[in-house]
This record gives sequence, C-alpha cells and structure tokens, in this order.
Amino acid sequence: MSMTVSDCTTIRDGFPRPFPNTPENVLDQFKMTGKVVVVTGAADGIGYAVAEAMAEANASVALWYNSNDAAIAKAEVLAKAHGIKAVAYKVDVSNSDQVQATIADVLKDFERIDVFIANAGMAISKPILEQTLDEYRKQMSVNVDGIVFCAKYAGEVFKRQNSGNLIITSSMSAHIVNVPTDQPVYNATKAYVTHFGKSLAREWRDFGRVNIVSPGFFDTKMGASPMAVNEAYRMSSAGRQGHTKEIKGLYLYLASDASTYMTGSDVLIDGGYVLP
Ligand SMILES: NC(=O)c1ccc[n+]([C@@H]2O[C@H](COP(=O)([O-])OP(=O)(O)OC[C@H]3O[C@@H](n4cnc5c(N)ncnc54)[C@H](OP(=O)(O)O)[C@@H]3O)[C@@H](O)[C@H]2O)c1
Repeated sequence: MSMTVSDCTTIRDGFPRPFPNTPENVLDQFKMTGKVVVVTGAADGIGYAVAEAMAEANASVALWYNSNDAAIAKAEVLAKAHGIKAVAYKVDVSNSDQVQATIADVLKDFERIDVFIANAGMAISKPILEQTLDEYRKQMSVNVDGIVFCAKYAGEVFKRQNSGNLIITSSMSAHIVNVPTDQPVYNATKAYVTHFGKSLAREWRDFGRVNIVSPGFFDTKMGASPMAVNEAYRMSSAGRQGHTKEIKGLYLYLASDASTYMTGSDVLIDGGYVLP
C-alpha cells in the first residue's frame, strides 16, 4: 500500500540527513589522503591502472592478485613513487575462505578499508552450445561468486566502520549483447553483478555507497580478441579500444569524496559502443 499525502507530510526521524563534511574545492574532493583502497585483479589491466590512480591520489593500496605475482613488485613501485603504503596479497576471489582471510590480513596491515574495488573477472567467450559446464561454472565462480564474497566480507567491515564504498567492475556486456562473439554466460555474469550492486546500494544505505563501472572494450588481456577487434573498432564511436589510463579518472571519482551523492549508479565507459 502506498503512503497517503498526510503520511508523507509527517517528518521521519533522522531525515533529512546532513550534507557530508567534504571540501568545497573540487580538486580537494578528489584527494584520497588517509584512505585505504583494496583493488582485486590489480596486477595488470584495468585493476593496475586503478591501483595506480589511487596511489597517485595519495591513498594506501592493497593490490589483490591471483596468478600474476608481478603485483608484488608493482606494489613496491607504487609505494616508492608516491610515498604511500602498498601491499600485494595473493587471493583467489572464487574461494570464500581466502577472501575472508585476506580481508582480515588487510585490516591487520591497514586497520580499515574505505574503498573496495571488486574488479577481478574472466571470460571464456563461447556460445553456450559449445561451452562445457565446467567452463560455465568457472565464469560463475570468478565473476559472480567472487564479487558476492568480496561484497559480503567487505560489507561487514563497512557496517562495523559505519562507512565504506564498494565499486564493482561489470561490463557493457551487462547492457547489450556485444558482437560478433557469442558469450552468453560472460554477459549474464556481468548482468548479475550490476543488479547485485544496485541492490546493495539500497541494502547498505545507512553506512555505505555502491556503484558499478561498465567498461566497453579496453586494450588489456581481456579486451577485444583478435577475432572481435575489427568489429570493436567499427562499433565504438571512438573507433578504437580504450587505453587503461582513460578509465582511471572514473574510478577515482567514484572512490573519492567527489561522488558522495552517487550510489546505485552504473556508469558506462565504452567510447560509444552501445549507441548503435
Ligand atoms: N578489457 C575489457 O575490454 C573489459 C571490458 C569490460 C569489462 N572488463 C572487466 O574488467 C575487469 C578487469 O579486466 P581487464 O580487462 O583488466 O583484464 P585482465 O588484465 O585479464 O584482468 C583480469 C584480472 O582478474 C584477475 N582474476 C581472474 N581470476 C581470478 C580469481 N579467481 N581470483 C582473483 N583474481 C582473478 C586476474 O588476476 P591474475 O592475473 O593475478 O590471475 C586479472 O588481474 C574484469 O572484471 C573484466 O570482466 C574488461
């Protein structure tokens, strides 16, 4: 039953909430000094660009990697270059025990988590009629379970802290069925995490924010495959894939106090791929 007009005129306890105590100067809003940021899938590609963006804005960074231990040296480089604390952690996000234990390790090392960027993902790009059930389960375990486990255990920390900010890397493939490669399972995993993130934005409304980034083709290991790359150039209005440096500003915006009024949003960054 919806509220009556007279119900609506009754002032509800605690509302309106106060405006946040954040700087007026927009460049100051982007500063991440004193904030602790976790980035999954941080050894390379979009994740490393995001970790670099956070370090450049003066955050402390926990770089999570799975198989690519270049993350260890990259954490050292970031720490030295930017005078911040950066530590690499090996964790398979599809393993809930490892996710829970690694969040505890990050808390031991950094004391808090202000921003958790659930970015790790993978694709086995095949039509369902050619895909094995193991390949299906693998994509579900990393792209769906991995995001759910990270959100659940990071969310517990956010609730305890009474603050926190989750950013999920989804995909334009959650919005459209991109061509020419049929990859229904990957596309559906991304649609899941987009709606999961929006739903968490409401669930966590008393203590945290949740937003989603939906990239188009970016020039990484997971970007357009040789078979799809010409179609990627043709479909995007920009006529090319994105460079990872072109996504840093969006994650910094969502991670920082520049976006305190933004929650439950899903931001496409795709060079115009989804327009036609
Ligand atoms: N590039 C694109 O065109 C594009 C477009 C839309 C969305 N995305 C999304 O963007 C995110 C980053 O991808 P990317 O383009 O930067 O490709 P990438 O360089 O291949 O990054 C994927 C990352 O996911 C990590 N990962 C995979 N399985 C994992 C697991 N079980 N546990 C923990 N980490 C795991 C990998 O870690 P290790 O290397 O350490 O194993 C890797 O760092 C993904 O979620 C992807 O779906 C990418």
